[in-house]
Amino acid sequence: MLSRLADADALIALLSLKIDSELLDAGKHLKIVANFAVGFDNVDLAEATRRGIVVTNTPDVLTNATADFAFALLLAAARRLGEGERIVREGRWLQPWGPGVLLGQELCGRRLGVIGAGRIGRAVLRRAHGFSMDLVYDSPRDVVEAEALGARRVDREELFRTSDFVSLHCPLTESTRYLVDAAALALMKPTAILVNTARGACVDEEALADALEAGAIAGAGLDVFEHEPDVPARLVISDRVVLAPHMASATVTARTQMAKICAEAVRLRLAGKTPPTALNPEAMSARSSGE
Ligand code: GLV
Repeated sequence: MLSRLADADALIALLSLKIDSELLDAGKHLKIVANFAVGFDNVDLAEATRRGIVVTNTPDVLTNATADFAFALLLAAARRLGEGERIVREGRWLQPWGPGVLLGQELCGRRLGVIGAGRIGRAVLRRAHGFSMDLVYDSPRDVVEAEALGARRVDREELFRTSDFVSLHCPLTESTRYLVDAAALALMKPTAILVNTARGACVDEEALADALEAGAIAGAGLDVFEHEPDVPARLVISDRVVLAPHMASATVTARTQMAKICAEAVRLRLAGKTPPTALNPEAMSARSSGE
């Protein structure tokens, strides 16, 4: 990648690519990095801006896909779908089947705590409202759409302590790294389920494995991991975890739109225009004198 960047004017980057000083130094002619993701924690934005390189992301178009998938994980973990699937595939059809086998949890009337009430968090709240769930959220300020759904803003401690399901929808920043740590997990109900479609490093995975093994929480639905593609072995062997390979935005609709946004951002930038999805539009002026 570093050698191939030498002549490149533009880079369309997957989130697995770290856009750091070394890469930006190698891309001497880069005018734009179009990140094929809404999250951009893989990009050193300050270094890109300093070099006059515009960085863009793909907001909005993956909101529904990601919220659907968070809900899929929530339902799968609540109803122990992974365990049921494995039983059927392995030919171990409930031996014996009985009224007390594979009992899960219903959503209706149970409390969902959403951390981060941005576009995706709000879309999850809308879905949960349709399931007649009791809604709380954690956000620096009241969010009008969330309140209109009957969701109540609470502090993070209350959210962890009282929620039956906790779903993460915050960006990964220094303040959200490991926000679900041993202390947060200790607050959660032993019947609670954690869903993470945000970023792996928002959760302390070792602490999560400890909590699952100790029965301190009941389960988890995880689409993201701190060191992808590595998934901690203790999570892989846990029957109560539903695992997915970072696929929440993987719908034809979302991925097509994401590709179009990236291509259009590159086209605009190379035509000297500021892409509407620019995260650092100020980078345009930093470069203009040299063009
Ligand atoms: C996926 O994780 C994204 O940020 O788009």
